[in-house]
Amino acid sequence: MRTQVGIIGAGPAGLLLSHLLHLEGIDSVILESRSRQYCEQRIRAGLLEQGSVDLLNDTGLGDRMNREALVHDGIELCFDGKRRRIDIHELTGRQVSIYGQQEIVKDIIAARLAAGGKIIFEAQAKEVGGFEGDKPFIRYVHEGIEHRLDCDYIAGCDGFHGISREAIPADIFKGYDRQYPFAWLGMLVQAKPTADELIYCHHPEGFALFTMRSSTVSRLYLQVEVDEDAKNWSEDRIWDAFHRRLGQHDGLEVSMGPLSQIAVTPMRSFVTEPMRVGRMFLAGDSAHIVPPTGAKGMNLAIADVSVLARAFIAYYKKNRTDLFDAYSATCLQRVWRAQHFSWWMTSMMHPVAGSAFDNERQIAELEAVTSSRAGSTFLAENYSGLPLASWREPV
Ligand code: APR
Ligand code: PHB
Repeated sequence: MRTQVGIIGAGPAGLLLSHLLHLEGIDSVILESRSRQYCEQRIRAGLLEQGSVDLLNDTGLGDRMNREALVHDGIELCFDGKRRRIDIHELTGRQVSIYGQQEIVKDIIAARLAAGGKIIFEAQAKEVGGFEGDKPFIRYVHEGIEHRLDCDYIAGCDGFHGISREAIPADIFKGYDRQYPFAWLGMLVQAKPTADELIYCHHPEGFALFTMRSSTVSRLYLQVEVDEDAKNWSEDRIWDAFHRRLGQHDGLEVSMGPLSQIAVTPMRSFVTEPMRVGRMFLAGDSAHIVPPTGAKGMNLAIADVSVLARAFIAYYKKNRTDLFDAYSATCLQRVWRAQHFSWWMTSMMHPVAGSAFDNERQIAELEAVTSSRAGSTFLAENYSGLPLASWREPV
């Protein structure tokens, strides 16, 4: 089989890239190791920056999102028994939207298939090669048979555990890594929202986050030990922790209901450099991951592919290769801004076990950020997202 752009991975990065290329008449094939159902059901984060929402709308993917997403003007930070609101809209003119990642995945899969797009599910990429020359290929296994996809370019959108990052030659690969000494226990709860907006809560016992998916489904996270087993958390233990950490704040009454999808999310920051080698480009989690505190993972994936789509369009329409050359540096600028923000939010919100100094220092920092317009604006600008450059054809 042959295509212009061979894409590995049907997460937000690979799917959106394929869609953007299609809008400009560029052919692609997506190889995805999981089933369609698995991709559409996998619970991940769900917060979209304004720029991500605008891009989805601009490219015809916004119908259901506009009906179902919950649009928020602000967030709350709780600490030291206090509740403080950051008015993102007033400070930046922007809003954020709650719309589960798997809903975006469903919408783009439907749009690609309706347009005749080629997504091969249950196709496991085994090898990428030829990208340092001019004959890139991807070897993959589908229904027990090995196949080869020849392409002009490879887009490695295969997430943090994929094969494309591993294929970067050791002499040019550089990885930047930070692991955190705690994890999050995430879950869904069938209950009306505890509050109208997201609540990030610092508590000496551990961080807690209240977020939501709809008027009947909330999503909750609790800071837990780094190697925690979700089985150690009974429903009673979970609710006790939420009541102690979150429920002690003025006017907050934690809404309870049946819990499901209880799972541990590790916290890690990672950046790959460069994000391009010859005719292979990495985008999204394959190139970088962030701890979920800043809600940047999916937004960064969207930002990468908007830069990559523009580079492909410049090449196929105008024979320009300068945007390929600029790809890695352009993406990494935003990636490092988001890395800093995610690290900062994480470091400010999670008490360090046994360190009374850090606990007091974090409270002082939260007080400084929430009581100063400059501090709140910094948080609001980064949370709602830096502007996205146009993905369209450059003039
Ligand atoms: N062959 C085929 N598909 C693969 C392979 C492989 N060898 N390895 C991984 N994949 C697939 C995975 O099954 C997954 O569906 O690549 C896809 C990668 O998707 P994501 O992990 O969702 O990554 P990305 O599209 O970059 O989106 C980033 O995902 O993890 C969240 O919080 C993160 O929101 C961020 C978003
Ligand atoms: C979520 O809704 O899952 C979510 C929202 C904000 C975060 C992390 C996760 O910071």
